[in-house]
Amino acid sequence: MSTFAVYPGSFDPPTNGHVDIISRGARLFDRITVAILVNAEKQPLFSMDERLEILRHVFRDQANVEVDTFDGLLVEYLERRRAQVIVRGLRAVSDFESEFQMALMNQRLSPQIETVFMMPAEQYTYISSRLIKEVFSLGGRVQGLVPELVEERLRTKVMAKRET
Ligand code: PNS
Repeated sequence: MSTFAVYPGSFDPPTNGHVDIISRGARLFDRITVAILVNAEKQPLFSMDERLEILRHVFRDQANVEVDTFDGLLVEYLERRRAQVIVRGLRAVSDFESEFQMALMNQRLSPQIETVFMMPAEQYTYISSRLIKEVFSLGGRVQGLVPELVEERLRTKVMAKRET
């Protein structure tokens, strides 16, 4: 049986921590789909098209990594795609409580789907999309913490904001 995993998230923007987890997942599972949540309520900094473009660019040479979007319940997306595993990254103990709740709720909703937690490389354990946005908007360096395309886009967005 081939293993098909889904790595869901907001990815606003994708960080090198996300990239690290996806790369680890691609080694562990036959296929992994990065599923970006379409959330009309939030005001994302990166549009859905940008997030799709960036992640597809980063994994352009990795045949078993796909990037997609989803709406509604995550387990329903997995059922529709016939995927068996949800991958989530765990950075620190502080992530654990909400991740534990989410995993158990997903298990209740769809008992045949398993959540697998993966740890990123140590140097990424403190990175989050929220911190990247905050540090960059205040003039801090984020080099090496996000894909180059994210850095470029952040620069463009900050310049556009200054001009308005
Ligand atoms: O990157 P994030 O914001 O931590 O990702 C959270 C995400 C997208 C995995 C979570 O909000 C989610 O699965 N949303 C879809 C709706 C759903 O299925 N909710 C019940 C999960 S317990």
